[in-house]
Amino acid sequence: MCGIVGYCGLRQASDILIDGLKRLEYRGYDSAGICVGNSGLLNIVKRKGKIKDLREVVPLEFKGLYGIGHTRWATHGEVNDTNAHPHSDAAGKVAICHNGIIENYESLRAILTKEGIVFRTETDSEVIAHLVSRSYKGDLFEAVREAIGLLKGTYGIVVVHADEPGRIVGARNGSPLVAGIGDDEMFLASDVTAMMAHTKQVLYLEDGEMIDIRPSGYTISDAHNREVEKKIESITWELEQIEKHGYAHYMQKEIHEQPQSVLRAIQGRFNREGATAKLGGLNLTPKELLNIERVKIIAAGTSYHAGMVGAYLLESLARIPASAELASEVRYRNPIVEKNTLYFAVSQSGETADTLYAMRELQRKGATVLGVCNVVGSTIARESDGGVYIHSGPEIAVASTKAFTSQISVFYLFTLLMARTRDLSIEGGLGFVCGLESIPEYIGKALAQKPKIIELAKKYAQAQDFLFLGRGINYPVALEGALKLKEISYIHAEGYSAAEIKHGPIALINEVTPSLFLIPDDHLREKVISNMKEIKARKGPVIAVCVEGDQEVMNIADDYIEVPKVHELFYPYVMVVPLQLFSYYCALELKRNVDQPRNLAKSVTVE
Ligand code: G6P
Repeated sequence: MCGIVGYCGLRQASDILIDGLKRLEYRGYDSAGICVGNSGLLNIVKRKGKIKDLREVVPLEFKGLYGIGHTRWATHGEVNDTNAHPHSDAAGKVAICHNGIIENYESLRAILTKEGIVFRTETDSEVIAHLVSRSYKGDLFEAVREAIGLLKGTYGIVVVHADEPGRIVGARNGSPLVAGIGDDEMFLASDVTAMMAHTKQVLYLEDGEMIDIRPSGYTISDAHNREVEKKIESITWELEQIEKHGYAHYMQKEIHEQPQSVLRAIQGRFNREGATAKLGGLNLTPKELLNIERVKIIAAGTSYHAGMVGAYLLESLARIPASAELASEVRYRNPIVEKNTLYFAVSQSGETADTLYAMRELQRKGATVLGVCNVVGSTIARESDGGVYIHSGPEIAVASTKAFTSQISVFYLFTLLMARTRDLSIEGGLGFVCGLESIPEYIGKALAQKPKIIELAKKYAQAQDFLFLGRGINYPVALEGALKLKEISYIHAEGYSAAEIKHGPIALINEVTPSLFLIPDDHLREKVISNMKEIKARKGPVIAVCVEGDQEVMNIADDYIEVPKVHELFYPYVMVVPLQLFSYYCALELKRNVDQPRNLAKSVTVE
């Protein structure tokens, strides 16, 4: 979602703010702005477009040692220069940047308008600047505290005042905020990537907390205005991990990184002697694991598809009833929390509002919810009752790729663990461990199909509609393939069970609507081949992703992509990689902005 950053120290703020925003650009990128304070004045520059557009209009004389910045993903009000943050009060003394949604902004706006305030923007956020200004009596912290008392909704905010040089006040309720501690300088941001170049010592704020920073230090207080002592955490990864390393796009880099990222997700997590998995963070004893009668997985987007793979695995190998559900739907249907049900909240960012709020609702009802997150220290990771980090390393491209294969890896490990507490023998367990250990190599082989996939992308990128079809454990992979294609190429794509097309979607088939079939050599192969013939009989173009050397499938399909043969439960790994590459190269063909597709954001912190 939107990215926010704040700096106070001994260096020029504008460069630090703009570099920080550049790092946060993946969160939202329709407009951006900064405010820098100097000699009792606040100077603001904001611009529709990318951070590079903003950089071009920041004047050289834009000097000052403290300031705030924002990169926007519009929720209220059109994308234009005016609606971009920072927003200021009428006198230009207060400036704020906001991430989240103020739900009662209309009533606050009406009150302020009656008091004579003239609003300049269509945003919900502008009210915050006026409220702080109205409450200001010489102490910015007190003014912000009073102002946020009137807000309903979610926010991560940073606020500065012209008369209090070097001071920034931040507050968090539902949108992430992290502080960075430097030498005679402090940072605030919506995520650590914005400050990584300067410090690795950070403090994560909780909902309801406020922070008051100056170059010399900080104080944090809770919702009752009591001072809070917080543990300083160290970021363990390197800035280098968020560079492109010669790839044209982050997405391309992240697709190609998967042999290593999957290895990171599984390594050190086997117990060979017991032919099982070791997942320390679950906080569950073997007895508690044995008592689990059902597993429910909640997530959004790509993480939801990974959860579907996880549910399939748990049912088929561990024989535990399992299902995945969209987090956004779970929260509002008054979910029934049954005894002995274990929940997983899966989220790459660990900040997705739909998933976080659903998790909190389940916890309120007594559920144990484990997190499967990538971002260390993220809200879901911290608030869950335990969990497993996927260790993908930072995922920057908006379209998620390596997180998917790492998320499913966690479910392969968890399934092994559960299966071994039940029916799976030591030999079966060891076979599974060997299968999983060989996956990075097989992903490498699937990646080697790149030249063929580039050819197919050239041939098919002009299609208006696409169907992605798979069955069993590869049905969620078909959904993921369709999601990837629409996210970054804007080609309309639908994922279906190959069996389901005859119940409706087959009406779409004609000579120009391609269908991409996932056909591993599993127990459903013959059935999927029949579905493929049904499409061919109606002159629909067919691309098959099949096992290398599967002559029968290659003879029927118009085009094919070969993947290595693996055990049937492991096909999601080798099937998803060609689909990621296919969507990437279709998007390149169509000259789309691959890493920052229109209207999307990496981390969606609003409902
Ligand atoms: C957004 C992103 C998707 C992502 C989804 C869930 O919609 O654009 O790529 O899959 O959020 O994100 P999460 O961080 O919870 O996995």
